[in-house]
Amino acid sequence: MSKSSVSAIDRDYAVQLDANDSLAQYKSRFYIADLNQCYLDGNSLGRMPVATQTIINQFLQDEWATQLVEGWNTWIDEAQSVGDLIGRAALGAAPGQTLAIDTTSVNFYQLCHAAITARPGRRTVISDTSNFPTDRYILEGLCRDLGCNLVLIDDSDGHEYVTAEKLAQHLNDDVALVTLSVIQYRSGALHDIPRLTSLAREAGALFVWDASHAVGVVPMKFDADGVDLCVGCTYKYGNSGPGSPGWMYVSTAIQQELQVPIQGWFAQNDQFAMAQGFDRSPTIRGFQIASPSVIGLRCIQSAFSMIEEATLSEIAMKAATGTKLMFELFDHWLQPLGCSVITPREAQQRGGHITISHPEARRISIALREQANVIADYRQPDCIRLAISPLATSYSEVWDGFDRLRNIISTKSYEQVVVSGSRVT
Ligand SMILES: Cc1ncc(COP(=O)(O)O)c(C=O)c1O
Repeated sequence: MSKSSVSAIDRDYAVQLDANDSLAQYKSRFYIADLNQCYLDGNSLGRMPVATQTIINQFLQDEWATQLVEGWNTWIDEAQSVGDLIGRAALGAAPGQTLAIDTTSVNFYQLCHAAITARPGRRTVISDTSNFPTDRYILEGLCRDLGCNLVLIDDSDGHEYVTAEKLAQHLNDDVALVTLSVIQYRSGALHDIPRLTSLAREAGALFVWDASHAVGVVPMKFDADGVDLCVGCTYKYGNSGPGSPGWMYVSTAIQQELQVPIQGWFAQNDQFAMAQGFDRSPTIRGFQIASPSVIGLRCIQSAFSMIEEATLSEIAMKAATGTKLMFELFDHWLQPLGCSVITPREAQQRGGHITISHPEARRISIALREQANVIADYRQPDCIRLAISPLATSYSEVWDGFDRLRNIISTKSYEQVVVSGSRVT
């Protein structure tokens, strides 16, 4: 059967995509406890690589248990070497500019504070209303403490996409910092990194990107695109586990210009001299606060080595094909049932997830888990996010998940759901 003779609503279409998928073998390198489950939530917490279990067990036994404190001779600079791996595999970043450390939120605070104070006299900070909550809340606190004015571009309509024209309207010589997510956490819209970065730079401002929903699924070219600063996590498409360390990228070009507010002992040039007075390391270590989670770093090492091996260009191609399949199934099945979609249709303007909206999204997302063994997540007010995590998800899994979703909506079986009091959605 040729691909063109089969429609997306025929399961064979997805089976054929799997048969031709150059990344297909990677799914077996993840731990899958329930083969009947459609896990379409790798954009929230990625599946666990099988190798990670061995790597962590070895670390516990051969390093922590046996080497004890002497292990620090080799662990001490791992935030930098693992940062370099993330930079190489996923960010288009040369060595010496990426640190794997702390949480995305802490890194965001550190870099935004440093950026604002590097532009003395400027008092405006720009972000958008659809940005991830932690970013907006941290900016509120920073602006309060540093006496700045926070301007949130209203992009709550449509795709939650900040165009160059929209940003340009807010730029002037009072702007110290612009910060946006590379991919919007709710709509999945992918911003134009080089265009928006250069606009902000022309206005004399610094730009901090948050790439949490982009890292490991869309290729980024930070060095080539002139990105100054970025943060992100490793537990989504990075498959490094719940609470695994985040990362920060600081381009070599501006490292000397910036000082983060928490100047911890790992940033000290001669760290073990333990001397009086802070004398910052001139390298990326000058941005590190303190001891890294070595277990967390090994989880990143395991997962990002796989990403590097598979290559981000192949991964991104599969994300584009997988989300196209979702759009085709949406058009045939879900739109007629009263769903709409808020993710851009152009493959270059999205990453690995699409988001549909329906007035009963909350109960539908619970019914997906309870009645159909499909894991997706609900986001306020009426959104369901559905993702393909290219290394860990097959096309058939996406197809089956959408098939079960349309059954739940068409039979209205979600009406049986009692909304629980869980804090997590
Ligand atoms: C875009 C974005 N930024 C920041 C965060 C916060 O990450 P953390 O809890 O690791 O600080 C998240 C978490 O999902 C996120 O999606």
